[in-house]
Amino acid sequence: MRVLVTGGAGYIGSHTCVELMESGHDVVVIDNLCNSNPRSLERVEALTGRKVSFYEGDVRDEALLRRIFAEQAIDSVIHFAGLKAVGESVAQPWRYYDNNLNSTLVLTKVMADVGVKRIIFSSSATVYSGDNEMPLRETSRTGSCTNPYGWTKYMTEQILSGIAHADPEWSVVLLRYFNPIGAHESGMIGEDPRGIPNNLMPYITQVAIGRREKLSIFGNDYDTPDGTGVRDYIHVVDLAKGHVAAVTFATENTGCEVFNLGTGTGYSVLDMVKAFEEANGVRIPYRIAGRRPGDLPVCYADPAKSAEMLGWKAEKNLRDMCRDSWNWQSRNPMGYGE
Ligand code: NAD
Ligand code: UFG
Repeated sequence: MRVLVTGGAGYIGSHTCVELMESGHDVVVIDNLCNSNPRSLERVEALTGRKVSFYEGDVRDEALLRRIFAEQAIDSVIHFAGLKAVGESVAQPWRYYDNNLNSTLVLTKVMADVGVKRIIFSSSATVYSGDNEMPLRETSRTGSCTNPYGWTKYMTEQILSGIAHADPEWSVVLLRYFNPIGAHESGMIGEDPRGIPNNLMPYITQVAIGRREKLSIFGNDYDTPDGTGVRDYIHVVDLAKGHVAAVTFATENTGCEVFNLGTGTGYSVLDMVKAFEEANGVRIPYRIAGRRPGDLPVCYADPAKSAEMLGWKAEKNLRDMCRDSWNWQSRNPMGYGE
């Protein structure tokens, strides 16, 4: 199979390129590098010993997309390209709606025209309403998003399921990710956020390497075993393998299916600090800060549907995630930068 990976130079995209190529697929990437570095793809090539066909450009550029589909015999598309910072989306809603919705609209228009009707989309646990019981199932309530980023994921799910409903030749797979962390075990590719990290694990690794002084824990008065927020952290390589399973699924089925990609186990912020310290023998100084607006106390998946229908389940444990996050950060203190 030849798979077009939009946003393939990014964190999850680069790991997925590796797993796709190691499963025998050819990979074509389009990325405008607005949140990534082309070195990630050089490292993907070094890791796999295979070439990635890379087009630097925007998924909203219809002419470029037409050229790619004309030059490459694409079978399926994995659509990672998008902006993902929750706080930034509140400050810049138009930019988020334009980027995340128009990229999907232009992409699916061109795909329909050229007759490539298989798409796998990066959705998020953020589409679930905050009032659900845990664990979250694919049938749990969605909507009531608390920020424009979340709405773009919700709306994109609506757009893609509508397309599959209208034309039975389409195969749409919506993957709702929980909290991806970790890095490829080689330490050659990993997460390289710009500026101050919003997410927990990159913040922890930057404290460990000395780029930040201490971690702020956002609230210790939640109704959880130790009072700190609980999430379903999943190793990015497991997540990437979920996409390889989804490519096979999309080839064998039509219609629209939604899957959770999580482990089914929740860990608190303090669990994460402790696990990181134990796995790597480093100290993570922290302080307790106020709650971060919009955060839920607890969020974790029921991954049973993915196990049953995709034949996929997460295999790596928390220690693997902490070890591989640190391996990447300590080998690349400034990420892909100099
Ligand atoms: P990332 O920022 O590392 O990767 C996204 C890539 O898309 C970047 O390389 C960026 O340059 C590119 N891009 C953005 N807009 C583009 C456009 N218009 N045209 C071309 N390229 C564009 O993020 P990631 O963590 O790898 O996330 C990948 C996808 O998964 C995103 O859609 C994100 O919203 C979704 N997701 C991520 C998480 C997470 O915690 N990392 C959780 C749930 C969902
Ligand atoms: N946290 C801290 N200190 C930090 C960063 C995070 O205590 O410096 C805490 C948060 O309060 C939360 C937990 O660590 O309890 C995880 O926070 P992250 O920011 O790493 O992840 P979130 O669950 O908040 O957000 C992630 C993705 C979003 C997505 C969301 C919903 O980053 O894109 O999951 O699934 F929308």
